[in-house]
Formats: sequence, C-alpha cells, structure tokens
Amino acid sequence: MANKSKFQAIRGTRDLLPPETALWNSVEQTAHEVFATFGFGEIRPPIFEPTELFARAVGGDTDIVSKEMYTFLVADSARLIAWRDFVSNTRKIRDLDELDIYERSLSYLWREIREAVKNGQLPDNGETQELFERMKRTMSVAGTALVEWRRSIGSARFEELDKSLEDAAVSAASIKIGEELSLRPEATASVCRAYIEHNMQQMPQPVKLYYMGPMFRRERPQKGRYRQFYQIGAEILGGPDAPAIDAELIEMLMTFFDKCGLQGTELSINSIGHAADNCRRAYVAKLKAELEKVKDKLGADSQRRIETNPLRVLDSKLEHEQAIIEKLPRIADHLCDECKTHYAAVKRELELRGVIYRENWRLVRGLDYYMRTTFEITAQGLGSQNAVCGGGRYDGLVELLGGPPTKGIGFAIGEDRLILSLQDAKSQSPVTSHQSPSVYIAWMGERAYATALRAAKDLRKAGFVVELPPTELKFGKALEHASKLNSRFALILGDNEVADGQWTLKTLADGSQQKLTEQALLEYLRSL
Ligand code: HAM
Repeated sequence: MANKSKFQAIRGTRDLLPPETALWNSVEQTAHEVFATFGFGEIRPPIFEPTELFARAVGGDTDIVSKEMYTFLVADSARLIAWRDFVSNTRKIRDLDELDIYERSLSYLWREIREAVKNGQLPDNGETQELFERMKRTMSVAGTALVEWRRSIGSARFEELDKSLEDAAVSAASIKIGEELSLRPEATASVCRAYIEHNMQQMPQPVKLYYMGPMFRRERPQKGRYRQFYQIGAEILGGPDAPAIDAELIEMLMTFFDKCGLQGTELSINSIGHAADNCRRAYVAKLKAELEKVKDKLGADSQRRIETNPLRVLDSKLEHEQAIIEKLPRIADHLCDECKTHYAAVKRELELRGVIYRENWRLVRGLDYYMRTTFEITAQGLGSQNAVCGGGRYDGLVELLGGPPTKGIGFAIGEDRLILSLQDAKSQSPVTSHQSPSVYIAWMGERAYATALRAAKDLRKAGFVVELPPTELKFGKALEHASKLNSRFALILGDNEVADGQWTLKTLADGSQQKLTEQALLEYLRSL
C-alpha cells in the first residue's frame, strides 16, 4: 500500500539537485559577469507584492493575471474574516437554532467591523456606512423573526427574512479587509514599482537593473513549463528615446547566451506600434473587424480573445488557425511614421552590432505593457516550450504605476529552459569546464588524522575541493569511496607518510602514485 505520510514536491515545482545546481550556479555567475560589463546592477525585489500591482502592469485580462497567479489574502483580523464569511454564506434559515446563531453572529460581525474602522483596517467612508445600515436592517428583521418564531412559528416572515439575509450576505461579501497579495508571476512590475518607490528618476538615467530568482504561474506543467520557475531578467528604465538602447540590450542577451554555450539560438523581433491612442489602436480595431468575419472558424480561445485581446490571436499555435491568421492584416503595414522609423533604427543598430535576427510579425507577447519593440529567443532541444527568453519595450508602464513618464525596455530568460537546452546540447560550455581538481584524503591512524585535518584546511584555502572521510576507513574502502565520488586524486596519509613527511598522491584515473612533500603537493596541484 502506498505510504500516505510521504511528502512530495507540489505539482509543477521541483528540487534542483547537485550536480545540476553547479550548472545553475555557473550560468548565474556568467549573467553577473556579462551584465556587469554592460553597466547593470542587481536588484532583488520581494517574491510577493499586492495583486493589484500585477493586475495593473501585466493586465487583468491576460492569462497570467486572470488564471495563473497564486493569490492569498493577508489580514490581521481573523475574527472579522470568520464572521464575514459566515454571514456572507448564510442565505437561508429554516430552524430556530440556526436563526439564533445567525442573529448573534451578526452582532459579533457588527462589533468587529466597528473595531476595524476604529483601528484603520476598514475605511470610514460611505461604503462602510451603507454596510452598517444594511446590517442594522438585517439585525432588526432577524431579531423580530426570532421573537415571533419563539412565540409560535412565524412562517409568514420567511420571505422578508430570506431577502434580508441575501442583502446582508451581499454586503458582507463586499467587505474587503486586509491585503490581497500574489506570488510574483514576473518581475518587471516589481522593478518599475521599485524605480518609483526609491525615486530612481533622480539617478543618472537610464537606470540599468537585472534580477534572478523564482517566479510563479499556475500553468499546466510540462517539459520546460513549471509552476515555480526561474528567470534571469534585465530592465533599462528612463533615458532618451534611442533605438540603440533596444539594440544594446539585445546584444547583451546574445553575448550572455554565447558565453553560456547555448546552441541553435534564434532571435525574432517585431514592432507592435505605439500604445493606446496611436497606431496600435487603429490596427487592433482593424484586426478585430477581420477576426469577427472569420470567428466561426476559430477555436474557443481565439474567439474569446477577439473580445479581450485580439492581438493575442496571432500567438495561436492551433494547426487549423494558421492559414486564417496568415491572411490577417499585419501590424507592419499600419505602424505610424514614428514607430516605423524607430523599428527601422532598431534593426540598423542590431546590424551594426552584428546581431542576427529574424522578423516575425506575429510576435505580440502575452503581457499588456509592451509597445514598439518585442523580441523572443528560441533555442534547441526544448520541444514545444522553446522560448528561452522574451522581452520588449514598455514606455508608459512606470507612469501607469503612478510614477513619472519613463521609458522602459527589458527581457526575462527562462533559466529552467536555458539549463535544459544546455544539457540537451551536452554543451561543455566554458562555464562548466574549469572546476578545481578534487582531492580525497584517505587517512588511517590518529596522527594521520591530525595531519589530514590540516591538509584539508590548507587545500580548501587554496581553492581545491576536498573530501575528508569523518571516520577511519581502511585504505581499500577509502579508495573505493573516492572513485564513487569521482575524485581526481586520493591523498594517502598513514603513519609512514606522516613520519617521513612524504605524502602519497594517487591519480585515480590511471592508478599512478607519487610521493611529494606538503609544499610540493600544493605546487603540483596548483600547476594543473
Ligand atoms: P514572459 O515571456 O512571460 O515575459 O517570460 C519570459 C520567459 O520566462 C519565457 O520566454 C520562458 O522562457 C520563461 N517562462 C515563462 N513561463 C514559464 C514557465 N511556466 N515555466 C518555465 N519557464 C517559463 C516576462 O516574464 C516579462 N517580464 C519579460 C520582460 C522583462 N519584458 C520586459 N522586461
């Protein structure tokens, strides 16, 4: 029978384990190094933020916000919440005990609300007053019903009571107390929030920031798609309207991928025009009209998107929609002059930097904040989830979040996918190859143990990986253990070695041995 007490990582999450984590670390180290050469500094925003931040930035109608966020309510007043939920879930009462409990709950709720208003957890505004009024009415109806019911059975009152319960339930359900928080599904919104919060517009512009860490989306898990996944991202905020900024950011990204040894990368770019009232609005209206004409031939998702976000229809991977989509109007033919010039300049700037790209007019991206430049990078060995990075320009997002008008552009790399692709290519990338040689210290005897401890300390200080068995092992066993750990050398320390000051170093791959003094050993290992 299955052991029910066994815990497992939650679906869509996983443990990253050694030796794979060494690859994660070296990829992250490469990011730190490459991004620093482009003048970026690291930001570490919190992992949860108010839900409203993501709703406003990423867009309430996007899949990410409407379906995939891990959201929770945090409130100080657990009692208020308990009474609120009780009242908002009670719509029918058919016996005296229930009515009795309900009537008392109402007065508890009433008291809790008064407390919450007093200590500032609930606003003292018209809405709260209205809530008090409604509750007063329900309390009076429930009180009367209770009295009548106790005397005889006041079934005539049921209708009025039900209506009153309904009223109170609706009001109670609308009590918003505490904060609704979400685990971050992405970090661009947080970086913009931080830019505003710390007045970064006062710093030399543009401000260049990068981050790495876990993100959370409740998507259907599959290869390359997890519910907790990791991104390495970068954002450029503020500064002039210069297409060179877009191009340099992409150049940095490609330099990073190159350094990691990522194979088969393909960069796709597009311009989706100016936000809201300029060229994009006209294009979206036209697209919508065309989509209406072919609505019956589209799948349910695309049909829904005609209303919520017509641009996203272009993202569809459904086989039977491809031919239809190819015939739709293209944004490139509808860009205003400013956007056209900007797009042409971005392409020229990329060419000046030797960055190879492919244009893809259907690249619209799944987040609402984008405008003008969008881009995506795919890599080999990833199957259907082959986008290893996505990004784009988002002028106006900082303003939307309450800051000054600010330009913005950035990207996020899916680190899980990057690692998958690197592993697939068995890419012996430069970042993984220079691990220090590892030394297993096989010791026997008390005197040898003291020497082994000192040797371990000195070798680790010099940067070598050292394994020191915590209990005494016969040399044969120790060497077996060393091979299992893939150690490169075994340093054999027994009574003889310690007495002579001549240590035995065994190369495990070929079994060869040499005798060295402590000093000569260090020099030899350093010379490798
Ligand atoms: P995104 O396209 O939603 O953009 O995500 C960027 C990358 O994160 C994707 O290309 C993919 O590699 C990875 N990713 C997304 N979801 C998952 C998942 N469930 N499992 C594994 N990997 C995933 C953004 O997040 C934007 N904030 C990028 C950005 C920054 N735009 C401007 N600045």
